[in-house]
Amino acid sequence: MSRWAWAEVSSAAIEHNVQALARLVAPAQVWAVVKADGYGHGALLAAPAALDGGAGGLCVALVQEGVRLREAGITAPVLVLSEQPAEQVSLAVQHGLQLTVYSTDQLEVIAEHGGQDHPVHLKVDTGMRRVGAQVDDVVRIADAIAASAAVRLEGVFTHLAVADEPGDPYNDRQLDLFETVIARLNVAGHHPALVHAANSAGALAHPRARLSMVRAGIAIYGIAPGTGVASQARGLGLRPALSLYAKVSHVKRVAAGERISYGLRHTFERDTTVATLPLGYADGVPRRLHAVDGSVLIGGVRRHIVGVVTMDQLMVDCGDDLVEVGDDAVLIGRQIGRDGEIVQITADEWADRLDTIAYEIVCGISARIERRAV
Ligand SMILES: Cc1ncc(COP(=O)(O)O)c(C=O)c1O
Repeated sequence: MSRWAWAEVSSAAIEHNVQALARLVAPAQVWAVVKADGYGHGALLAAPAALDGGAGGLCVALVQEGVRLREAGITAPVLVLSEQPAEQVSLAVQHGLQLTVYSTDQLEVIAEHGGQDHPVHLKVDTGMRRVGAQVDDVVRIADAIAASAAVRLEGVFTHLAVADEPGDPYNDRQLDLFETVIARLNVAGHHPALVHAANSAGALAHPRARLSMVRAGIAIYGIAPGTGVASQARGLGLRPALSLYAKVSHVKRVAAGERISYGLRHTFERDTTVATLPLGYADGVPRRLHAVDGSVLIGGVRRHIVGVVTMDQLMVDCGDDLVEVGDDAVLIGRQIGRDGEIVQITADEWADRLDTIAYEIVCGISARIERRAV
């Protein structure tokens, strides 16, 4: 063991989640989004598990992320989700990564960097207003793709802004516009094999968005995309894939009235046993977790974090319980409680406390934390 803090990632959970999604969206394919090192789970653990679960392909944000998959021997289709700097494009071509385009400039870059009949997906901005071709430019860009020997139109896609709020009519507005775009492309003679619009929330809550494939990220890691689609996620029986563990590295008794950690912001009201865990904000445990009632599990009991989380260590209040150096602590995951029941802390719980989303929590677990496949 290289250090007393690590993450465990369940390949079986990812495989199960992809299978469950694949059953839900069939005949659409599931492409697993493994950008940002597999949402902090380790892309090289997540990608094979997702493919074992039936994913038809993988999506990444950066060419380097795709190259890493290829260097690990993964031969499945990989789509890079946005346009890339010219200096990355030749790498993408060499490694057979499908590229996203929304400008004729990017087409020229692909041609200059050796593309030949290279599969591209044309991204359309139907309302997310992040990246994508303007609706009125789509046929012109598709014509340019058809006229170029460097590329071939493999897919057309868009991205939903409020898929996790299924009642919002903006979803249908985006999907209506996307259907119009596809119809215009068909009239102009373009018939891409893959038409896609849904992220995890889209796949769960918007059957009309499933089309020929869905790009599922957060759900394959067993996390609901948001409270608005929590019931659909529960219905699918998603299993969280990541657990974050540490071992107690130091134990001491502190007296009532003593204070702790930087800024001395916590004062003990009574004599207390304090355990130190050897991980902190440099590992992705937000510094502020102490101020929002963040806790960890030790001995099957929730223990409050006391004092600000420091860069490499944090402290927890263990009351009068016997806790020893080397005891197991769970930051995200499950333990057996004292009465034999399961006690659990989820990435969603951290996110709720910190007023963010679980995506940010799992992506924030830093490279210093070793990911172990279980
Ligand atoms: C273009 C695109 N598609 C799909 C996804 C996957 O989203 P989710 O993790 O919500 O499934 C993302 C993630 O941000 C994305 O940017």
